[in-house]
Amino acid sequence: MSKSEVVSYEAGQKSWWQKLFTVKSMEQLQSEVANSEMKRSLNYVDLTSVGIGAIIGTGIFVLTGIAAADKAGPAIAISFIVSGIAAGTAALSYSEMACMIPVAGSAYTYTYATMGEFIGWIIGWDLILEYLVGAATVSVGWSAYFTAFIESAFGYKMSSKWVNSPVSYVDDAFVTTGDYINIPAIVISLAITGLLCFGIRESARVNTVMVGIKVVVVLLTIFACIKNINPDNYTPFFPPNEGKFEKYGVSGMFSAATTVFFAYIGFDAISTAAQEAKNPQRDLPIGICGSLIICTILYIAVCFIMTGVVPYRELHPPGQNAAKPIAILIAATGMNWLNIIVSLGIIFGLASVMLILLMGQPRIFYAMAKDGLFPEIAARIHPKYKTPWFTTTLSGVLCALLGGILPVDVLGDMTSVGTLFAFFLVNIGVIILRFKRPDIPRKFKVPLGPFVIPVLGAALSILLLCTASTSTIARLFVWMGIGIVIYIFYGRTHSKINNPHLARYQNEEKPMGNPEHAF
Ligand code: ALA
Repeated sequence: MSKSEVVSYEAGQKSWWQKLFTVKSMEQLQSEVANSEMKRSLNYVDLTSVGIGAIIGTGIFVLTGIAAADKAGPAIAISFIVSGIAAGTAALSYSEMACMIPVAGSAYTYTYATMGEFIGWIIGWDLILEYLVGAATVSVGWSAYFTAFIESAFGYKMSSKWVNSPVSYVDDAFVTTGDYINIPAIVISLAITGLLCFGIRESARVNTVMVGIKVVVVLLTIFACIKNINPDNYTPFFPPNEGKFEKYGVSGMFSAATTVFFAYIGFDAISTAAQEAKNPQRDLPIGICGSLIICTILYIAVCFIMTGVVPYRELHPPGQNAAKPIAILIAATGMNWLNIIVSLGIIFGLASVMLILLMGQPRIFYAMAKDGLFPEIAARIHPKYKTPWFTTTLSGVLCALLGGILPVDVLGDMTSVGTLFAFFLVNIGVIILRFKRPDIPRKFKVPLGPFVIPVLGAALSILLLCTASTSTIARLFVWMGIGIVIYIFYGRTHSKINNPHLARYQNEEKPMGNPEHAF
């Protein structure tokens, strides 16, 4: 029997139940790495900058205002510490995985290799929330700062009807706002999609410039506003609970931690560039952990200053569906000139986050389509531009629709819970692999053994997930339910590992090619 016949025979012998847990072998993944055509050109500085590029964005520039004003008050700084610990534990687990499996595809690939196809699919489907819905969240933040910039720089106030979402979520129900649609959010989503389709990639150098701008903006804000702190604004540090779980008090602080968890999302985008790292075993952990540490310090500093200068309730004026806390903070100091510079920096900075997220999404679709879990068209690469044009366009159009219609808090919370779920499984994956494959060399290991940090990370992820609003959790269930139905009717019967005869046919008939590298 030839090797492929043996594989077909073995797959045919498995029950449907066993097939759900078929894992992609480490050897298979490592051979994908060995055969990768991507150029290994990124060092740890580039990777750290990719991380910071994806991390600093709508989370700190927009959601902090909503979370402080409506959920935590000045205790928002503690929320950032809590979600920073959850992100940090996941970062360590990601680092161990990325060293062992330096393949593009992120948590989807790790889970496929550890917990089998079904959970791998679940995570791949869930990552749509992190990348695609995440990009839509950023587009709404971009729109808020863009309109603020046009107003402060040119004195032109755009009609709120065309720059806001037509609905908002108040007291557990969607209500109409009287606005029509968020046009700037749509335009930026489509513009970035166009760039990505035609192969104008985020080069490491452009990314480094963008990151430089963002870090300068944050530092400028910190140093320009620090002298305006009024210590009275910190009392009460934990405003009393106002009757709802997520409104102030310790529970509000935790709920805000789930909201601002969004601010940490993005370091895992480094793992999607794993195949382009010069020395993945050393540089990936440095990039992942380094970018997270830098951003955590900046975030906590910004929170202290924001809530010290502006009374927390004013950070998100009622009726606005996207906050602009940085603009409010600087306006409170009377430095309008600084607001123009900072808004411009934020506009570029948010666009770069969208670029990274909208580049990551098609690459995950690509990895899933190569495994047969999505139709083959999702893995098609444009012959001239070498980009996954179909999935890039699909992701961009969906992002534009979501950003045009939904408010930033609904989108951001969906992204946060989706990512928390992915981080939960990556933490569990580290534990499983330590026992199942102790033989694989690990240049980076999560410190303190296989349990302490991954278990803490998994527990914190679930805790934060549970403190999200009931409606957000319900939406997560609906989304995952849709994913399971698609797996049952499509993925299960088209998976290449479980249907090797299909894999042979597809590979012979329709070679897919590789996308150009990301950075
Ligand atoms: N962490 C990124 C942001 O805050 C996704 O925009």
